[in-house]
Amino acid sequence: MQGRYKALWLNEDDLLEVIDQTKLPFSYETKVLKTTDEIVAAIKDMTVRGAGVIGSVAAFGIYVACREVQSYEKLKEKAKLIRQSRPTAVNLMWAVDKMMKFLKDSKDLVKDSKAYAIKLNDEEALESQKIASFGADIIEKILKNKNKTSINILTHCNAGWLAVIDEGTALAPIYEAQRRGIDVHVWVDETRPRNQGASLTAWELTQSGVKHTIIADNTGGHLMQIGDVDMVITGADRVSANGDVANKIGTYLKALAANDNDIPFYVAIPTSTFDFDIKDGMKDIPIELRSEDEVKYMRGVDEDGVVREVLITPKNSRAINYGFDVTPARLITGLITNKGVCEAGFENIKEKFEKNI
Ligand code: MRU
Repeated sequence: MQGRYKALWLNEDDLLEVIDQTKLPFSYETKVLKTTDEIVAAIKDMTVRGAGVIGSVAAFGIYVACREVQSYEKLKEKAKLIRQSRPTAVNLMWAVDKMMKFLKDSKDLVKDSKAYAIKLNDEEALESQKIASFGADIIEKILKNKNKTSINILTHCNAGWLAVIDEGTALAPIYEAQRRGIDVHVWVDETRPRNQGASLTAWELTQSGVKHTIIADNTGGHLMQIGDVDMVITGADRVSANGDVANKIGTYLKALAANDNDIPFYVAIPTSTFDFDIKDGMKDIPIELRSEDEVKYMRGVDEDGVVREVLITPKNSRAINYGFDVTPARLITGLITNKGVCEAGFENIKEKFEKNI
């Protein structure tokens, strides 16, 4: 794994421990999640966030829940609470459903849930490695075609190892490109309103020694027009069977600008991000609506090193805070998956993932 940290792990007491992402980049703190209620709260308040990590925590959350209940019937109630903790990232529902299906006839819920959560997470980490490799191949190809030795990649939000174990999705190819000796520079969208780019991606890239520059969300289009972006890679929270991509709010605008400037726009995803049941992502992917306070207040450290939240708008102005938007498949150059690069379209997805959709 790149960097010095993991987003989550089972500690020496066999308890789920996670990086508290609400504290980054100002301090590195971890939290132990001992109960189902704590798991649900950590997902809701974004102690843990990022589609893949939400799924990983949910899988271990079922293990935590198994220690609280005596029967599968009781476990179902806990599973429902975890499943409903956030609406857009399908990895959450995917992980809970996989766990529950596996445990249906279990005679030892605690033992089996722990083993299966570890298995799901190991598989996800393996997919991340494959995404890294397929994505780095694309980076090499773009450099070769442009006859360049260094590449500028723009990314939105955080889709690195804080978001998907072990190396992330959008950032995994960047880490692999760096290992291959490629000179990579990343344009990091700040990603208002919660600033996952400015606070998490920038922190992650710093830990891994990757060159990067934070930009205000509105800067990407201009950089594309002046030739300073060679490609865009983002992650996703849900991809429908026809290849529409839900990702952090603002992704759609980057895809439009990339399309207008002939810049390749790739989306990197593990299998758990596909929602094969949704045929039309534009219409049917549920979009999270979050508190208006996230738009109205900003968090930072003052000169004494104290973390503070400050109001940046008129107190009584209203704000609206959609967490995600959907980028239509037609704007996506390709999906970087564990099975290779796949065109974002119904037939290609169906063929690559051998799904009866
Ligand atoms: O609201 P967040 O921080 O959970 O949203 C995260 C994103 O939108 C990421 O880009 C994403 O999860 C894609 S990769 C896992």
